[in-house]
Amino acid sequence: MAQFIMSYCIVVALLALAPICFSNKMQAKGGHLNPHYYDHSCPQLQHIVKSVVAQAIARERRMAASLLRLHFHDCFVKGCDASVLLDNNGSIVSEKDSKPNKNSLRGFEVIDQIKAQVEKACPQTVSCADIVAVAARDSTVIAGGPNWEVPLGRRDARGASIQGSNNDIPAANQTFNTILTKFKRHHLDLVDLVALSGAHTIGNARCVSFRQRLYNQNNNGQPDMTLDQLYASKLRSQCPRSGGDQNLFSLDFVTPFNFDNNYYRNILANKGLLSSDQILLTNNHASMQLVKQYAQNVQLFFDHFAKSMVKMGNISPLTGSKGEIRQNCRRINSY
Ligand code: HEM
Repeated sequence: MAQFIMSYCIVVALLALAPICFSNKMQAKGGHLNPHYYDHSCPQLQHIVKSVVAQAIARERRMAASLLRLHFHDCFVKGCDASVLLDNNGSIVSEKDSKPNKNSLRGFEVIDQIKAQVEKACPQTVSCADIVAVAARDSTVIAGGPNWEVPLGRRDARGASIQGSNNDIPAANQTFNTILTKFKRHHLDLVDLVALSGAHTIGNARCVSFRQRLYNQNNNGQPDMTLDQLYASKLRSQCPRSGGDQNLFSLDFVTPFNFDNNYYRNILANKGLLSSDQILLTNNHASMQLVKQYAQNVQLFFDHFAKSMVKMGNISPLTGSKGEIRQNCRRINSY
């Protein structure tokens, strides 16, 4: 009899605990994001993001690139927590004014539009950080790139870090090792670096981001031989030695709006626009091998890109009771 009562108690205890375990999973506690996080609380989310992103890209094709980059610049500073979206206010110094972002990072109005529609459909439920992650995926797909399920359940930061933005986001003129170190700090490896750099298959860079490659000469007065000289002279005509800092150039001059593997083919032809693109070929054997493989095998690039985007999207999310669900992506809820 005592044995029967004991077994009965254990079964009752297990049944009582089951919903708690289940709901913990859905709440993304302990940093585990989950693609089905909003399935019940905001089933309209995926549809809203996709349709607003599609309209924005139909208005301006470059927007796919801008939204993809926004997620990268969010995740590399304090994790994927929408800190990049905060405007200057009170004690908050906006990351929008940092060196990598100023006059460069775009797409904030599109995120505002998505957030407004999502708030109407499911008030105070979906974080801005999750909206940015889904918008980056949808942008990639619309531009012709791979699809992936976006793990969700991030919450929004109550602060920004302009210092982090200046220091943690890699710059185009940094060495291979410095850039790789910045990736490794976020547990992203060399494969992630080479695959994610493939995002430069779409979008633009300003003259100021690569000018030094066009006019730098080595000790013997020779130009940068890792840059095709005909391509360089075309670039020079629109990117003079001084002035024209904001002039725009396609990162992939062959198919600037298509998410494909032409970026890697350009690098093999010494026509990578940024120094950080070209050094994937010249400064490390393992990354050179990957550039060659991706140039030959678009499916391999797509598979690695999708996996690396999920890894990047997992950088230090705020979950559980950390952070908040912002009502307006540009401001924290109360000061
Ligand atoms: C590996 C280190 C990286 C460096 C040094 C780098 C640097 C840059 C620079 C300098 C620009 C041009 C900015 C301007 O002139 O306004 C740019 C544009 C861009 N970057 Fe990167 N980037 C890196 C990695 C990434 C990653 C990981 C992604 C996304 C997964 C990404 C996505 C983009 C996109 C899509 C654009 C074009 C944006 C637009 O047209 O609005 N980049 N990047």
